[in-house]
Amino acid sequence: MEDFMLDVTAEERAFYGDRLILLEGIIWEFLTCVTMICRYQVSLGRGDPVTSCQARIKRAGSMREKLRLHGLPVTADSALRDVRDAAGVRLICSFTDDIYRTAGLLRQIPGVRVEGEKDYVHAPKPNGYRSYHMVLTMPLRFLAEAPERPVWLEVQIRTIAMDCWANIEHQLKYKREIAHQKLIVQELKRCADEMISTDLSLQTIRDLLGPEGGEAVPCGS
Ligand code: GTP
Ligand code: MG
Repeated sequence: MEDFMLDVTAEERAFYGDRLILLEGIIWEFLTCVTMICRYQVSLGRGDPVTSCQARIKRAGSMREKLRLHGLPVTADSALRDVRDAAGVRLICSFTDDIYRTAGLLRQIPGVRVEGEKDYVHAPKPNGYRSYHMVLTMPLRFLAEAPERPVWLEVQIRTIAMDCWANIEHQLKYKREIAHQKLIVQELKRCADEMISTDLSLQTIRDLLGPEGGEAVPCGS
């Protein structure tokens, strides 16, 4: 798994105030565990289940918007208590199987509590969105005392193809009054279906190659 960067601006510092460290903390704790879990899997010869990751603290602007939308107080307190994706991590896998392997490994992290799961891989959204979502909490070892309330972390696990599709579809939401919207939505759904079939083919090739891409066989044998 590659290294990651956490981009926090002055706006987030102002909005989240002294709660920001809790969001940064859960992301770093989690990613430290995930990094070592992946290295351990590689050391066992099982292959790295995660090819890359992204982490983010929800931007102050989108958090305010979300709180307003749900009729919640527009405060850092409510952002951490009532919204479960103030801290978010996305784990990108090469193959569909790795999504479930990764989810299984995450459940085994000591102290992790999985508070919610949504499997949009087996049951994609009508628009074609696929991803495996988990909301979890875990011990924050850097604190002298446990926080009075759990700190939520939203984890999204998906393949490279699913991630590519979701990023493009996400851009749609920020475009107002798009021309050919119906056609674009239809085409996106078609792309999602094609990507499912590509993910399936890639998984089949990987299965045929065997663990770790299979053993090299001399030419001609
Ligand atoms: P939010 O309140 O929007 O966070 O959704 P939710 O609480 O109903 O949870 P859900 O698990 O459905 O979605 C959580 C996150 O998954 C969203 O914030 C997005 O990052 C992502 N997501 C869910 N649905 C879609 C989708 O249709 N398209 C894209 N691009 N992303 C999605
Ligand atoms: Mg969200």
